[in-house]
Amino acid sequence: MKTFDREELITQARAAREQAYAPYSGYRVGAALLGKSGRVYTGCNVENAVYPLVICAERTAVVKAVSEGEREFTAIAVVTENGGSPCGSCRQTLREFGEDIVVLIADVAGNYCETTVAELLPASFSAADIVI
Ligand code: THU
Repeated sequence: MKTFDREELITQARAAREQAYAPYSGYRVGAALLGKSGRVYTGCNVENAVYPLVICAERTAVVKAVSEGEREFTAIAVVTENGGSPCGSCRQTLREFGEDIVVLIADVAGNYCETTVAELLPASFSAADIVI
């Protein structure tokens, strides 16, 4: 079991959720991504009047981290009202940076379950599959 402060990461994801821009769905999501450097990158969902342009909280956090030079991650916490699970696009985006990233799926009350990218996206496609 990886050692990091799970409650603290969830607390940061819950705070990030406050920034969610979700006027269409009303479903607010917060994420906190722990880099191997120890830095935490937060994210929230950002919706758009052109509905398909929505950016999920997890992908916001990944893009923030990678754009700031961090590419290796220990864990991500995701907080929603009801403990909703990361979508397929976010699972694949996380997979790009590792299968052993711990995923904490939490609700606003602080209940959570712990899993990994490998468990959420078995038999995944990755860079190793690309033969050129
Ligand atoms: N959403 C996320 O932010 N992450 C997920 O993994 C699932 C869905 C957002 C997108 C949209 O703004 C709202 O939740 C409803 O789908």
